[in-house]
Amino acid sequence: MAKQVASDIDWNNLGFDYMDLPYRFRAYYHDGKWQDAGLTEDSTLHISEGSTALHYGQADFEGMKAYRTKSGEIQLFRPDRNAKRMKDSCTRLLMPAFPEDQFVQAAKEVVKANADFVPPYGTGGTLYLRPLMIGVGGNIGVHAADEYIFTIFAMPVGSYFKGGMVPTNFITSDFDRAAHKGTGQSKVGGNYAASLLPGDEAHKNGFSDCIYLDPVNHEKIEEVGSANFFGITKDNKFITPKSPSILPSITKYSLLWLAKNRLGLEVEEGDVYIDQLDQFTKAGACGTAAVISPIGGISHHGNLHVFYSETEVGPITTQLYDMLTGIQFGDVEAPEGWVQKV
Ligand code: PLP
Ligand code: COI
Repeated sequence: MAKQVASDIDWNNLGFDYMDLPYRFRAYYHDGKWQDAGLTEDSTLHISEGSTALHYGQADFEGMKAYRTKSGEIQLFRPDRNAKRMKDSCTRLLMPAFPEDQFVQAAKEVVKANADFVPPYGTGGTLYLRPLMIGVGGNIGVHAADEYIFTIFAMPVGSYFKGGMVPTNFITSDFDRAAHKGTGQSKVGGNYAASLLPGDEAHKNGFSDCIYLDPVNHEKIEEVGSANFFGITKDNKFITPKSPSILPSITKYSLLWLAKNRLGLEVEEGDVYIDQLDQFTKAGACGTAAVISPIGGISHHGNLHVFYSETEVGPITTQLYDMLTGIQFGDVEAPEGWVQKV
């Protein structure tokens, strides 16, 4: 695959697609420590057929973005949170975490080395970073690997869901994404493997993605396959599900904080019953890739529940979107520690 050339990119029409940029960070864990760390131009990995990542899913990852500000500088949004969450995912999969401060440093190195690929301010595009760790080496028994590869690669992206800040419809799934005491809280490859079939069914039926319900009774909303869920009630309360099997979204916790402290809304992490959607006037999916993607309606057992509108975005969702993206692109003052210059 040929290396991506920046001048070939149509910045205003970016999707969410892989590109082979000039540089990525790579580090190798062997003999009990991380070593041989640095940038490389090689976008391929040469690993043993016995690698635990291939057989037993010993693999975790992160998703974060670099933003071009109006003055042309580049900044990261809460990268320390991604470093911490990856450490937690590593703990769950018995992998040696890459040190959190070095994680943030490595992310900055990747952004700097690929600075020509950070989309211009005003296009809405961002440089998406994908930190990834895999268990490697010759193994066959079900146990943790002795060797690991950590990498951070990057690519410019636009909207994850078609249209971005335009409402689209979602559908509940009869499948579970994760169990309460499984790996739902961790950002591990297996969760996404389990979501491929339900996600494909949703797409084939014209929905953006599926919404998973609690794995015990299928009564409460858990999250979207690639983002967390939130709803805004008739009396303007911001509610988002609480469950041991959903990914603790950095975007969701940022929105909870902003809704409470900047918009003065009441906020709650609690139960969101699928048969009580009438309490909400608006709903959305939120995440690094999804940003805020308004949910027009949710189809459940053949009935489509429409929120504010299938085509228009509600005013609070718009306010939250403008505040979040304003902070990320440097136009709105960020809470202490939320943005880091590259
Ligand atoms: N839930 C799932 C399953 C995800 O894949 C993501 C994306 O990272 C999120 C939620 C949102 O998390 P964050 O806001 O940290 O990107
Ligand atoms: C993200 O939002 O960064 C994600 O990881 C979601 C999806 C692309 C898997």
